[in-house]
Amino acid sequence: MAEKKFSVLVTRKIPQSGLELLRPSCELEVYPEDRPIPRQELLRKIAKVDGLLCLLSDIIDREVLDAAPRLKVLSNYAVGYNNIDVEYATRKGVVVTNTPGVLTDATADLAWALLLATARRVVEGDRLVRQGKFRGWGPMLLLGHDLKGKTLGIVGAGRIGTAVAERSVGWKMRVLYYSRRPNEFLEKELGARKVPLEELLAEADFVSLHVPLTPETHHLINGAALRKMKPTAILINTARGAVVDEPALVQALKEKRLAGAGLDVYENEPQVHPELLKLDNVVLLPHIGSATVETRDEMARIAARNLLAVLEGRKPEFPVNPQVFPTR
Ligand code: DGY
Repeated sequence: MAEKKFSVLVTRKIPQSGLELLRPSCELEVYPEDRPIPRQELLRKIAKVDGLLCLLSDIIDREVLDAAPRLKVLSNYAVGYNNIDVEYATRKGVVVTNTPGVLTDATADLAWALLLATARRVVEGDRLVRQGKFRGWGPMLLLGHDLKGKTLGIVGAGRIGTAVAERSVGWKMRVLYYSRRPNEFLEKELGARKVPLEELLAEADFVSLHVPLTPETHHLINGAALRKMKPTAILINTARGAVVDEPALVQALKEKRLAGAGLDVYENEPQVHPELLKLDNVVLLPHIGSATVETRDEMARIAARNLLAVLEGRKPEFPVNPQVFPTR
């Protein structure tokens, strides 16, 4: 049998498709519990590994990186990497990788699931039926909002934002987008218009967030931004919780300055603001944007390939800090 050359820790069970790629050449440890690896355990185990395959719920900060003298690669099983101190990893010569592209469609689909569920009060309806409160068709029962011809505001027109916009064609929506760079595809194919954030917030009936979490986007949707939105508007967040100031959102929803919100992500995951739990006009999901069998299988393969490439001295498919690589 070939010699296992590399010592690798996987912080939680991921699909076999990825683990199978690692097994032949790695001495593999997979944290066995179905919960995030406790911090102290991570600090102890990382001291001995060449590669870490980690999740968006693992905080990889200076303390963790300083505890990892052998570490060459941090392969994040996610497209977002705000859980990793990339700057410090770069200084330490550790390559950081992610899994972009593969989860675009799954996440865009979930944004639409949230949008439709919130606009048409799907979850409220389900609750009503289960509680035995359905007394027959009613002319005023659970009236929601139409989508056709409404304005969709896309905040962050990268891969996922673009895929969400593309899906609006069936509803003949007008698309506005806010982005650092113009998106030629959106403009040519959908007639979308790039506008300042203030304009998008003031005009959109549905605002869907697709920016990465960075110091610049932290609380991008704060109290002032929410005050610019229409009282009939719905906010959808499948990006990162801290892009929205959660207490300010609760306030806006309670005061009916916003019609509703569909959220897959939260500021302090897995905690959810307790007031959100009490509101009927929000749909709350447990961060399942990329949670399809096909997508998670492919994410596992990509994360494994990224990790192996670095350990074998090759350039990974998706480096976040490619500047590290040539210097190693
Ligand atoms: C990501 O990959 O960043 C997603 O949030 C996972 O669902």
